[in-house]
Amino acid sequence: MPASNASTGYSRLQIALHWLVFALIAQQYIFKDAMSATWDRITDGLEAGFDPLVLAHVAGGALVMIFALWRLTLRTRRGVPQAIEASKVRGILAKLTHVGLYALMILMPVSGSVAWFGGVEAAAKGHNVLKIVLLALVALHVVGALYHQFVLRDGTLARMRRAQG
Ligand code: HEM
Ligand code: HEM
Repeated sequence: MPASNASTGYSRLQIALHWLVFALIAQQYIFKDAMSATWDRITDGLEAGFDPLVLAHVAGGALVMIFALWRLTLRTRRGVPQAIEASKVRGILAKLTHVGLYALMILMPVSGSVAWFGGVEAAAKGHNVLKIVLLALVALHVVGALYHQFVLRDGTLARMRRAQG
């Protein structure tokens, strides 16, 4: 994803949004059972009572999308630091991972909402497939971050911890 203007580092806001979204996505997986159980009841035609964890899934997922769109706006308006690339191929891999993560931060809430608010079972099926793709991309992303931190020791992780520029 090319940045229109490069900056020396991520801003405090960009860093805060990155880790806030990480926490929100983690809670979507950790507390997923409440949403799955409620969805099963609904598709079985049963009554589903109020569950705060279901509300958290809907609201948390919506926030993920809002924050992802906000981050994309910040990328174009403010810019992001130049990628630290170990090699051309790994640079492309990192870029593709970031594009995929942004796409899923939007597709997950959209598919979930179409299922939940529109009662579309196919969208729930899609949501269930995408949740695996998202998890795989996050795993790849974390492996990449750890590789930069412990093998290359090039300060990539520090960029997402301390604001600059
Ligand atoms: C980044 C945002 C989201 C993530 C990471 C996420 C993740 C998940 C996960 C891991 C499950 C459990 C599936 C299972 O193993 O049974 C799930 C289920 C579900 N989610 Fe989300 N979700 C997100 C956003 C949303 C939103 C915004 C809504 C609704 C407005 C939603 C509606 C649902 C529904 C209806 C299910 C039940 C589907 C089923 O069990 O077949 N999700 N979600
Ligand atoms: C749900 C989990 C996560 C998602 C969706 C996510 C998403 C992203 C995205 C889209 C970027 C690119 C930022 C941009 O340029 O706009 C990024 C950067 C970054 N992420 Fe994550 N991330 C997650 C978790 C993590 C974790 C757990 C770590 C650390 C172990 C991490 C470390 C980093 C680092 C170091 C960068 C900066 C890379 C660079 O400067 O080139 N992320 N993340």
